Amino acid sequence: MRVLVVGSGGREHALVWSIAASPLATEIYCAPGNAGIAEDAICVPIQATDVDGLVSFAQKERIDLVVIGPEAALAAGLADALEAEGLLAFGPSAKATEIESSKGFMKDLCARIGVPTAAYKRFDDREKAAAYVRDEGAPIVVKADGLAAGKGVVVAQTVEEALKAIDACFDGSFGDAGAEVVIEECLVGDEVSFFALVDGQDALPFSSAQDHKRAFDGDIGPNTGGMGAYSPAPMMTEEMTETVMSEIIRPVVEAMKDDGRPFKGILFAGLMMTDSGPKVIEFNARFGDPETQAILPRLRSDFLPALVVAAEGGLKHFDLRWKTESCLTVVMAAKGYPGSYEKGSIIRNIEAANAIKGVTVFHAGTVQADDNILSAGGRVLAVTGEGQELKDARDLAYSGIESIDWPEGFWRKDIGHRALK
Ligand code: AMP
Ligand code: GLY
Repeated sequence: MRVLVVGSGGREHALVWSIAASPLATEIYCAPGNAGIAEDAICVPIQATDVDGLVSFAQKERIDLVVIGPEAALAAGLADALEAEGLLAFGPSAKATEIESSKGFMKDLCARIGVPTAAYKRFDDREKAAAYVRDEGAPIVVKADGLAAGKGVVVAQTVEEALKAIDACFDGSFGDAGAEVVIEECLVGDEVSFFALVDGQDALPFSSAQDHKRAFDGDIGPNTGGMGAYSPAPMMTEEMTETVMSEIIRPVVEAMKDDGRPFKGILFAGLMMTDSGPKVIEFNARFGDPETQAILPRLRSDFLPALVVAAEGGLKHFDLRWKTESCLTVVMAAKGYPGSYEKGSIIRNIEAANAIKGVTVFHAGTVQADDNILSAGGRVLAVTGEGQELKDARDLAYSGIESIDWPEGFWRKDIGHRALK
């Protein structure tokens, strides 16, 4: 099969790496890719949201399957445009992507079909939103409705803080994404990222992970895209997986089909494990980053057929096998991330980390310049360890990191602490 993976992050490197292990893959392209992806795929300089450019490339190269990584490409209608030309795409239509790109849509859907989620109200008026917050008191959660790269959510500990977040949305901090706000009850518990493959009709569990969103050790500092993750999430027993599938995933898949916007691809539920059971914090229409870098090395089955079956239909009669090992990934980021940071510093000895048995280095923001690998983004590498126990996986990931020489980078030293305490 000729496969095109769209995106350039650590998630896409893990997708390419996993597809490259399939005996069915004859040629793999990635648009636009990065320096690590270039070792497993042919990188082509087309941006992930260049829908026309990607469609014509896929036609010209007779691509059998396009695997779409980032939400921006999905929201831009890449899957729709590919399918209109008769090309097979892994990833939902723009309409189905609204489950991620519109928090209001997602909340209304959950409320209508009784999927457990935080109590909420939607506002397009600043004064009414403020009055509601004053009535409800803190803690309370304020969210910009649209896609804001993970930065549109404030878990406010005081009414003051919530009012500031409302102002930020209506003052245009998030552009159009903040024209409407959703205000929610603050849920308490441990967070789990749960994934399911979906073919429009049926859903198959695709493992779980826990990520660390805050920049610094001890879960403090600003929110980031994710600084590390481990898989599986210890709370996701077989029984809990079945609860999540039957109370959350299957009802949502069913409702989206009935609404004429069937969901195909990977459905990512961000869950809060509360005292009264799992509740949905958010849905994403794509794989997680860095969760994918901790999940895919655990997959024993061939990944490529799973993607094809989800895209074509037929998951009902499909199954996947997983290793019993755990994986843990640690993100190496440029100093200053998620604020401003420098690009272009040299990263050395990645091959020494990759040479350790049980360690895989996934690239995110990297470029190759002559013989050097240079940093080219905020999150730059994700170093994954695989071990019998989670602590073995952690020790391997950190020995990988110790081998890498990158003075301009930083990383959290405590990934996995909640599960290992
Ligand atoms: P989101 O972008 O919706 O994933 O939100 C980012 C983060 O904010 C989540 O990972 C949670 O840690 C936190 N969060 C969002 N909604 C809630 C909520 N209703 N209660 C508590 N924490 C929340
Ligand atoms: N790591 C969280 C996400 O991919 O949204």
